[in-house]
Amino acid sequence: MNKDFLSILDINKTELEQILSEAKQLKTLKKQGVVHDVLRGKNLAMIFEKSSTRTHISFEVGMNELGGHALFLNARDMQIWRGEEIRDTARAASRYVSGIMIRAYKHSTIEEFARFATIPVINGLSDLEHPCQLLADIMTMQEHFGSLKDLKVAWVGDGNNVCNSLILSTVLTGYSVTVATPNGYEPPEDIVKKTRALGGKVNLVKSPEQAVKDAHVIVTDTWVSMGDDAEREERLKTFSGYTVDAGLMRHASPDARVLHCLPAHRGEEIADEVMEGGQSLVWDEAENRLHAQKALLVRLLRK
Ligand code: CP
Ligand code: NVA
Repeated sequence: MNKDFLSILDINKTELEQILSEAKQLKTLKKQGVVHDVLRGKNLAMIFEKSSTRTHISFEVGMNELGGHALFLNARDMQIWRGEEIRDTARAASRYVSGIMIRAYKHSTIEEFARFATIPVINGLSDLEHPCQLLADIMTMQEHFGSLKDLKVAWVGDGNNVCNSLILSTVLTGYSVTVATPNGYEPPEDIVKKTRALGGKVNLVKSPEQAVKDAHVIVTDTWVSMGDDAEREERLKTFSGYTVDAGLMRHASPDARVLHCLPAHRGEEIADEVMEGGQSLVWDEAENRLHAQKALLVRLLRK
């Protein structure tokens, strides 16, 4: 296993299977009320440059349930915000804690942390990827469908960080992804090329109806990611027609299921009737952040 988890492709197929199996076991143990302390004495620093609900809560609770401890660090209260170099912060922090989870605007910030930290660094969301989200999404799809092989996944909306990790995850899982975005909001070419070169299956289209036809899973996310706020009005106009609503769902199979990493913006990328409807798996997906990340933490931090 790599020291760090910055991309969903920092793990291979076997490691993904092991993480999913461990996550399933940890989920069962939690439901049975079994407590354990495999990470006793371990501390995880959680550095946030941007807002978070799920990532913050699930990592903090996850460390706690494994017998360890997590420290919430708002980057704005740290010396980094006053100009201390990342490489210095990374080396100093490595002397105190067993791992660092960081949510940053720029992926390069997290990469620099990882380069200089002597302990595992986990990407808790960057402009490029959201690999922890994908662990939970894959777990949720596996729980619901059993096998991932030959599933058809449709992404509708912005070709953003979560979309990138979903595309890359096709290399590990055997499902294919069809991505429907408006012009100019396609996922980066290098992500698509890399995925195809590694045997993953991604197809880019413009029409949401075309993407969801035959799909087993429909995934969407905000049209305005953190950091994109200045473009909000323009984005809302461009993305109109890309809402996952009852109308779009009529083009999909009644057995299709819907994922959203949350936070959701009802009436924008997803309609209330879909969020609250019988095809939505979003609450299982949110819950699985906890179990999947606990499995990841055990693998990275247990020596
Ligand atoms: N999905 C997700 O990462 O949520 P938060 O931004 O609330 O952490
Ligand atoms: N794409 C969103 C995901 C939030 C969890 C963002 O980057 O803001």
